[in-house]
This record gives sequence, structure tokens and C-alpha cells, in this order.
Amino acid sequence: MTNTFEVKNPATGDILETITRDTPAQIAQKLQAGQEAFQSWKKTNAHHRANLLFKWSHLIQDHKEAIAEIMTKENGKPLAESLGEVDYATSYIDWYAEEAKRIYGRTIPTHADGKRLLVTKHPVGLVAAITPWNFPAAMMTRKAAPALAAGCTFIVKPAEETPLTTIRLAELAHEAGIPTDVMQCVNGRGRIVGEIFTDSPLVRKITFTGSTPVGKALIKQSADTVKSVTMELGGHAPVIVAEDADIDLAVAQTIVSKFRNAGQTCVCANRILVHESISDVFAAKLTEKTKELIVGNGLDDNVQVGPVINEDSYTKIVKQIDDALNKGASLLTGGTYDVNHEKGAFFVHPTVLANVSNEMEIMHEETFGPVAPLTTFTNLDEAIQIANDTPYGLAAYFFTDSYKVGNYLSENLDYGIIGWNDGATSAAHAPFGGMKESGLGREGGTEGLEPYLETKYISIGNFLE
Ligand code: SIN
Repeated sequence: MTNTFEVKNPATGDILETITRDTPAQIAQKLQAGQEAFQSWKKTNAHHRANLLFKWSHLIQDHKEAIAEIMTKENGKPLAESLGEVDYATSYIDWYAEEAKRIYGRTIPTHADGKRLLVTKHPVGLVAAITPWNFPAAMMTRKAAPALAAGCTFIVKPAEETPLTTIRLAELAHEAGIPTDVMQCVNGRGRIVGEIFTDSPLVRKITFTGSTPVGKALIKQSADTVKSVTMELGGHAPVIVAEDADIDLAVAQTIVSKFRNAGQTCVCANRILVHESISDVFAAKLTEKTKELIVGNGLDDNVQVGPVINEDSYTKIVKQIDDALNKGASLLTGGTYDVNHEKGAFFVHPTVLANVSNEMEIMHEETFGPVAPLTTFTNLDEAIQIANDTPYGLAAYFFTDSYKVGNYLSENLDYGIIGWNDGATSAAHAPFGGMKESGLGREGGTEGLEPYLETKYISIGNFLE
């Protein structure tokens, strides 16, 4: 079995670099090193860890343009989005550098004289992370920063499509003074590394962003060693455009949510439900704006939609579009492709489909591509029923200027993230994560630190005051 893999530019098919996979023995050695490093790292004080995190963040910012270029080359996203992702990535480091200093315990009033009851917080141990190709920088720092802030050591396996950003971020972490065994990177096939991570009793926590089937496998595999797990899995986000919505705002924010990263985000708009009284005008405006999007190599000026990541993604998207058209959907724009099979470059032109119905695959499967399917509803309860009719529960969006409609939708949508007149909800200081099969736990905000901490309760008897 070849022990190297090629990292390719999805816009051109050019080989960017050949990376050697770690062998199982090398990964085991790294896990051992991470576990040994934990013994001293956990004793470092919070201000020291915070300072190192800030240095890491500043170094990343110093190299922002170069990192963004690497990201665009290996992922395909437009350079402006990569630059934005570098800021997004460092915002997690900055936030958790601050939070490191706010890991508080507590004392509990006692039930008996002469006792003192304490609760203290401790890092869980060595954390193993498996990160996706769609946000190679931010998904790594969203896991690494709280882990390091808490006093955990960290080992990350990036996606084989986009390891270069992660490798560079880890180098900069070391340059910032974070010890090499405290922050490690391994390369290898997801299934193999996942098994090594989950089998190892040295790893106390697994954190994963990726598909729901892989997440389920990792949860099962983690059971034997009773690891803590944080899972950020698939989504199938509904967008509900209510009768009273500001249509221009709804169109603009739907474009942001739908076409960011060529529709390859877990939180992107996947099912757009528009009140029947405004569906024609919404569809016309969305189509007009979608037609304006410039598709191409993310390194070229003004490009807004890059290639999809690989042939499998492209094939799935085409299948969903064809299925919808065969079952009666109307093509308002898109449905065209620029493809170079030999090189492995796949561009899908931003597509809007109307008259989409519940029998179509696109209403039930995550698309992970730049396709906006439109359907209509007559009343809010119908919209809520369609929106919740999925095993996923990551992000949902709705547009209304009525506080009653907004509150009703917020209460009744079974989703971990709700965007109300907002298509761009993510922030380092807010909890990101899903309900149902979209995941377990949250990343970001104060909620994102807790999973890296153990709670210890100390009951002191014969306490002398
Ligand atoms: C994701 O798609 O998994 C992450 C998107 C985000 O953080 O906004």
C-alpha cells in the first residue's frame, strides 16, 4: 500500500505536494509523546497558556496572505473567503486564550458542620481531532484552542484533501512556543487513523467534524475506552421565508448561506421554503443575484464560487439536480458544469431549482454543493413540519420582521443554530453544534471549553475554620 498521497488543487488538478502518511507505529509514538507531554502541560498556568495562544494567533495573522493562498490552492475556495477564514480561525484562538483565565471551580455550601466541598476543573488529557477539508484552518483552531487553553495536549489529523493549511498552522504553533509534543499533526487515511485514535486508551477525547456516518462510527469505536466525544456532523438546513419577510434581505442572506465555499458547508441553506404569496418574486430575485456570481479559480480576482472538492462531490450534486429535474423541478439558472475529468477539476455553476417537492432526493440528502432548491408553504406549521422532517438538526434560518412569527419559529425548529434574518451565524464566542444526528456537544463560546474539562469534587471532612 502506497504510503504517500498527493494534495491537488481542485481548480486545476495540479499536484501541490506529496505527503507521507504516518505509519501506525509512528502514530502510536506520537500518542505516547502527547500523553507524556500532558503531564507537564497540564501543570502550566493559565496565563502562560493564554500568552502562547495569543502568540500563535499573532503569528498566523503575520502570515495571513500566505496561509490564505495555501488554503485556496488546496480547497478551491475564493481567496477572499480564505482570508476571512484565517480571521475566523484566529478568532477562536483569541477567544480561548481569554477563556483559559476563566476556568473556574466552585465551593458548595455544606450539609454538615466541619466540611468543605470543592469542585475543581481539570483538563481531560490527550485530545485527538479529525478535521474536514471545507474549513481547514477554522475547524482545526476551533478544536485546538479550547483544548490547549484547558491544559490538554492535542493531536490532529487533517483531511487528506487539505493537510497543508493544518501543517502550516502547527508549525506556527511551535514557532510561538507551544511545545512540539503538545500540538502534533498526523497524516493518514481517515478510517485507519480514526481506529488508532479511538482504540488508544491514551486518547481521552475525540473531536470530529465531518459526515454523520463517520461520526457514528467514531462514537461506537470510542465506547470501549469510554472517551469523551464532540461531534460536528452533517446538516440539511432549511430556510423559511415568511409572508412578511424583507425579500431583498432574505435573498442576500440566502446567497451568503447557500454559496459560501461553493455550498460546501454543514450549515449552508439546503431547502428553501418560501411562503406561496411571495414565492415568484423571491425566486426571480434569487435567480437574478445567483446569475451574477462569478465562478472560477479562487486565486483569480473577483471569483466568488470555486470548484467543488472532488469527483465524488460533483457526481452527488449532478445526481441530485438530475433527480429533481426528472421529477418535475424547474431549472431557473445553472445546471451547467465545467469539468476536466482527466485533471480532476469540477466546477458546478450556481443553480436555482423551483417547484421542488418532498419526493426529490435534494429535500432529504445534504447536497454539499451550490444548488438552491425552492419550494413553497401555505402556513407556518407546514413550514415547521417540512423543516423538522429530517434526522439532521444543525442550522436553520428564517426571515420575518414579526416578533411573533420569529419567536414561534425559534421555539419550534429543532435545530442547534438558528439564523433569524441572518444567513451568517457563526462566531467564536457563540456555541456551534447540532441536535439529533447533526452531532454531540458544542464548539465555540463558553460551551466549547467545557468538553475539554473534567470535574473533580473534593469533600473535605474535619475542616478546621
Ligand atoms: C462547517 O461547515 O462545518 C463549519 C461552518 C462554520 O463554522 O461556519
